[in-house]
Amino acid sequence: MGMDGYRRLLSYNERWVAERTADRPDYFSRLKDNQDPEYVWIGCSDSRVPAETVTGCQPGDLFVHRNVANQVIHTDLNMLTVIFYAVQALRVRHVIVCGHYGCGGVKAAMSGRDFGLINRWLQNIKDCAERHQGELDALPDEEARMRRLVELNVIEQVDHLAKTSVIQRAWKTEGRPWLHGWVYDMKTGRLKELVTRTSTDLPHPVHRFDVGE
Ligand code: CO
Repeated sequence: MGMDGYRRLLSYNERWVAERTADRPDYFSRLKDNQDPEYVWIGCSDSRVPAETVTGCQPGDLFVHRNVANQVIHTDLNMLTVIFYAVQALRVRHVIVCGHYGCGGVKAAMSGRDFGLINRWLQNIKDCAERHQGELDALPDEEARMRRLVELNVIEQVDHLAKTSVIQRAWKTEGRPWLHGWVYDMKTGRLKELVTRTSTDLPHPVHRFDVGE
């Protein structure tokens, strides 16, 4: 592919607009005036895990945040802003954290290599591996350990969401959103549910906020 390969994206866009408006001329004019998504998707930036494609979602369905290895880090202002806006203003019903087997971020975290600045982002995954070392060591081989670490990483990020005041306040006042941890298998295209947490699944008391009524 030459340097002008990017042009296919623009020509696809022209065809897409034509197709969308062929049977519904008001398709875009209806979408532009409000957004009312039911779901937040926190996924990996990996190009092989496209949120809308694997879930059949359309424009307006998913509020998306993606980063390397689908992390929920309490000092990440970007992630917090997405969650705050989606939960408080858009009032989404579900927040989905979706990891994927074969995640390069998880592999990098376990490689022992020095990635400079990126080490700090991967630290969270190393901490997860350390916390679950017993379970991981009991697995038969490296592939099994990496697959399980991908799952444990997702479950921990869901746990991190439950520790935010934004989620706890919405849980207390409206009983939403449900938190979901999923993993995507790039070899099969399938999604698997790992964990679901609702408003009764509060974190350890030390992580609970006095969110009032
Ligand atoms: Co990944």
